[in-house]
Amino acid sequence: MKILVTGGAGYIGSVLCRMLIEKGFDVICLDRFFFGFDSIEEIRDKIKIVKEDIRWFNPNILKDIDAVRAWLHCQTIQAESLIHKKH
Ligand SMILES: NC(=O)c1ccc[n+]([C@@H]2O[C@H](COP(=O)([O-])OP(=O)(O)OC[C@H]3O[C@@H](n4cnc5c(N)ncnc54)[C@H](O)[C@@H]3O)[C@@H](O)[C@H]2O)c1
Repeated sequence: MKILVTGGAGYIGSVLCRMLIEKGFDVICLDRFFFGFDSIEEIRDKIKIVKEDIRWFNPNILKDIDAVRAWLHCQTIQAESLIHKKH
C-alpha cells in the first residue's frame, strides 16, 4: 500500500517514513528539503522521493497518485528547525 508523507525529511516525517517502511508500506516522501537529505540518507533507496513545495504541488505529476491510500502531513516551518539545522 502506498503512503505519501509530506515533510518526510523532517524530524517527525523521517521517523514516520522509517516506521512505515518497517511495516511494509511503499513510502513516497514529499518534501521541499529545506534542510537537505541527511535525515533520510539511510532509507533513500527504499522510498520514492519527490522534491516539491506542497503549496504549489500538483498531485497529477505523480503517475502513481491513484495508488496512494493516505497522505500524512508533517511539513511545517518551525523556528526550532531554523535555529538548530544547517541550511
Ligand atoms: N518535533 C517535535 O518534537 C514535534 C512534536 C509534536 C508535534 N510536532 C509537529 O510535527 C510536525 C513536523 O514537525 P518537525 O519537527 O518534523 O519539523 P521539521 O522542521 O523537522 O520538518 C518539517 C519538514 O517539512 C518540510 N517543509 C516545510 N515546508 C514545506 C513545504 N511548503 N513543502 C514541502 N515541504 C516542506 C521541511 O523541508 C522539513 O523537512 C509539525 O506540525 C510539528 O508541530 C513536532
